[in-house]
Amino acid sequence: MPVCTDETVLNLWFAICATQEMQPGIVQDTVLLEEDLSFALDADGSPRVWRRKGELRAGAELDIAKVDELLPAQCAYGYVWTCLGTPSADIFPIEEYDEPDRRNLNAASIGVNVSGPRAIENFLDMGHFPYVHTDILGQEPHTEVKEYEVEISEERDEILATECRFFQPMASTASSGGADVEYVYRVPHPYCSVLYKSSGQDPSRMDVIALFIQPINEERIRAHMLLSIIDDDSEERVMRRFQQTIFGQDKPILENQYPKKLPLDPRAETPIRADKSAIAYRRWLRAKGVTYGVIPSAG
Ligand SMILES: [Fe+2]
Repeated sequence: MPVCTDETVLNLWFAICATQEMQPGIVQDTVLLEEDLSFALDADGSPRVWRRKGELRAGAELDIAKVDELLPAQCAYGYVWTCLGTPSADIFPIEEYDEPDRRNLNAASIGVNVSGPRAIENFLDMGHFPYVHTDILGQEPHTEVKEYEVEISEERDEILATECRFFQPMASTASSGGADVEYVYRVPHPYCSVLYKSSGQDPSRMDVIALFIQPINEERIRAHMLLSIIDDDSEERVMRRFQQTIFGQDKPILENQYPKKLPLDPRAETPIRADKSAIAYRRWLRAKGVTYGVIPSAG
């Protein structure tokens, strides 16, 4: 029986590993929602994921005859995804990913001692840019979070924050200096968010940075970060290092959050205008009945 009793979360797809970090036919181990899993790509490149049992574990050669039961599995956006329950929906679309001139890569998979919802909420927050990502994503005195729009799309079952604008000294590896950068945030999954921001190279298009959270348990995650960006020049390692630097600045902030789980009670934390997307996110989690990684609302 699954350890996690939150049916909503149990029936979600989760990214567990970047396929570029896998060797076909060689088993790897991971943990998802407190369950020990093993996984591999088979000879055709199809992902296989199962609850770990016996010898077939990290380092072994895949022998599918030794697995009694496979979990749902698929590759999407350069990652293996799995689900411990019965998938309630397909993985959300990111249409830009298939555009031929984009560079798609896993920037990082980083372990963080915090709940998934806290990490998503931090990702949505522009207010911390000048203080935490000083001289990269923000800079004093440009500290004001300007008015932006937030809606919960019933049809797509996702949160959308648009018209977000923020002055950034160094928005990406393709930036040539400070600029007002436009942001759009989507939260199409309780543990995933997709950010669109003005491309430094082509002002008519947007770069995509997606955060796919793999909950290890309620207070520990692996954060997988996808880049799908327009940048003809920068080397992959430079693009990775840029995102890793930013994430390295967020990590200690995230790990100092108290409580580590996200409180969903509307009275738990004082909202300010900049938190409009966070408020929508908490409301959406409440409406979905999410209990894993959060402190449910008493009312
Ligand atoms: Fe941050």
